[in-house]
Amino acid sequence: MMIAKQQTIVAALFATLFVAHASGNLLSAEPEGYIDCPLCANETFGVYTYGTFIADSGVVSCQEAFDTDIRLPPENCTAWQSRGEDVCRCAAEPPENHDCKLCDDGGSLPEGALAAIPGTFCAQLQVDATRDFQDRCPIWQQTMGNYCGCNNTYDASICRICTEGYKFDPAKVVDGLDNSTISCGRLEFSANLASGDFGCREYQFIFESQCCEKIEEALPDISGTTGASVMMIGSVVVAAFGVLNMLL
Ligand SMILES: *[C@@H]1O[C@H](CO)[C@@H](O)[C@H](O)[C@H]1NC(C)=O
Ligand SMILES: *[C@@H]1O[C@H](CO)[C@@H](O)[C@H](O)[C@H]1NC(C)=O
Ligand SMILES: *[C@@H]1O[C@H](CO)[C@@H](O)[C@H](O)[C@H]1NC(C)=O
Ligand SMILES: *[C@@H]1O[C@H](CO)[C@@H](O)[C@H](O)[C@H]1NC(C)=O
Repeated sequence: MMIAKQQTIVAALFATLFVAHASGNLLSAEPEGYIDCPLCANETFGVYTYGTFIADSGVVSCQEAFDTDIRLPPENCTAWQSRGEDVCRCAAEPPENHDCKLCDDGGSLPEGALAAIPGTFCAQLQVDATRDFQDRCPIWQQTMGNYCGCNNTYDASICRICTEGYKFDPAKVVDGLDNSTISCGRLEFSANLASGDFGCREYQFIFESQCCEKIEEALPDISGTTGASVMMIGSVVVAAFGVLNMLL
């Protein structure tokens, strides 16, 4: 089960988005009117993207959501399937391979062997980028490309989880709201997939505290004091030897 506070946050977010289910039925058994609700409204469609989205049970990947049999009231099903459309891009066929380069200058990847996202090397992310929808290439570049060491031109239209003055750690693994965990990098990537109201700001609101660390001011120069304390230790040692000498 989710931690109560997070559940409240997510429930509140959903309440602003969806019309509440108004049956008033408090039975724990499935109330009347629930329907099968596959992620893709057209059941012959599949999902072919790397994205995740925030559901009221927590963060789920498109693949997990696609694989889960779920029954919902019709109005919730509409919302669920709209995630299938916007974020997961349910489609009849995988997108055609294309030549998206994580480095926008078309150059080779500086750090192919880096696991920018835990469990996934940059070289694999480069391949995944060419298999996702082509119009998502700028998102790949501005998130995964930067995590993998490319020096990409800054694009202000891209959602970043951290505000200025905070450092983002894409490899950090955080609580995905249910029992699952997810890397901050994958969350930031996904924050750019949702169009409309359940995107960037909600990701920032929920994950900023976990994924961002304040950039500390440089520490003041303490070499002077270090020198002094070394000298002090020196004199204590000398004094101790003096005492020893006197005893001998
Ligand atoms: C989370 O884990 C607890 C204990 O392991 C389990 O009882 C609960 O059903 C899990 N919740 C979800 C959403 O998987
Ligand atoms: C349906 O959506 C409403 C409003 O967000 C929510 O309160 C309710 O828990 C949802 N029902 C289910 C079964 O997910
Ligand atoms: C589902 O998609 C297939 C392939 O694009 C199409 O032929 C079919 O009519 C669609 N079914 C529905 C119910 O829309
Ligand atoms: C990154 O690109 C900017 C502008 O394109 C350039 O000024 C900077 O020197 C580059 N940094 C590195 C590390 O290559």
